[in-house]
Amino acid sequence: MKILAIESSCDETACAIVEDGRSILSNVVYTQIAIHKEYGGVVPEIASRKHIEKIGDVVQTALVEAKLNKKDIDAVAVTYAPGLIGALLTGLSYAKALAYGLNIPIIPVHHLRGHIAANYLTDIYLEPPFMALIVSGGHSHIVQVNTYTDYKIIGRTRDDAAGEAFDKVSRVLGLGYPGGVQIEKNASGGNINALKLPITEFEDAPFDFSFSGLKTKMINYVHNSRQSNNELNIPDIAASFNYTVAKTLTDKFINAAKHYGQNKLVLAGGVAANTMLRDMLAKRAGEIDAKLHIPSISLCGDNAAMIASQAYYEYLSGNIASEDLNGYATMPIDLCE
Ligand code: KG4
Ligand code: ZN
Repeated sequence: MKILAIESSCDETACAIVEDGRSILSNVVYTQIAIHKEYGGVVPEIASRKHIEKIGDVVQTALVEAKLNKKDIDAVAVTYAPGLIGALLTGLSYAKALAYGLNIPIIPVHHLRGHIAANYLTDIYLEPPFMALIVSGGHSHIVQVNTYTDYKIIGRTRDDAAGEAFDKVSRVLGLGYPGGVQIEKNASGGNINALKLPITEFEDAPFDFSFSGLKTKMINYVHNSRQSNNELNIPDIAASFNYTVAKTLTDKFINAAKHYGQNKLVLAGGVAANTMLRDMLAKRAGEIDAKLHIPSISLCGDNAAMIASQAYYEYLSGNIASEDLNGYATMPIDLCE
């Protein structure tokens, strides 16, 4: 079954065609990073407008690269939640019109379910059940994936996502957007123990995260240093921050795996591209005899191939939308229909 998927939840306009959930026939991503860079983060209205301008070309390119015609497509999939609502609606409207015109089903896909599915494309033998750590610009979750469409949230951030902390710390340091990539680049050669940084713990919820205190501490540190005319050691600051985020995520994920007796672990989301996180998790997973699955770097960030992969399993479980499908800025991963 060939599924054409559209992803437009943030600042990537993407279309991909994937066969039977595992084989990528084409995967086209138009990234708006260069446009939003100027503002230090994504400007929602600009993102929506760019999606409208680019979506037609991106879909056409995905068809050409897969050497297919529209009539070869069996179903259209689309990210319908969560995300920037205007951005989501551009992709959703296009997808609905395409499916209606071709008289084929439309499959709604939750963005974070898609991030997990990036791993089904990286390792075609990976199957649930497993435990996943999803870390993106807007979300940080530990999730038990029971089946392809049945999830239980084990832990979540109480405030900012890990990616949000990367983006804001990068911005205050003047390193640019997207923050994770810039922090990682600038951390090279820095001392991970140069700054003593907080890791928030919750007595009643040991697998929940909080990154807002860390983010504020970093911002205050930078402002205070500048006001006192103290020189900022960027590599040390970036390395200490990167290490603290990676350690927080790793400790909680490994503790959750041990607590729930899980030995199949999956990393997902834009922050999954972080080398220190990938290395730290691989080492700690090895220590508890767990197998760690990590998406290939090209599938960590937003793309439509992961949406098409997840869509295949949504379709098999009967999740097909009607023409009144709407977009939602927020939607829990375990509750969507
Ligand atoms: O999943 P994603 O592409 O978009 C959302 O769904 O939010 O994640 C984007 C986030 C951004 O916050 C970005 O700074 C972060 O992923 N990111 C990274 C790295 N590459 C992207 N964070 C840490 N290290 C990286 N190498
Ligand atoms: Zn994402």
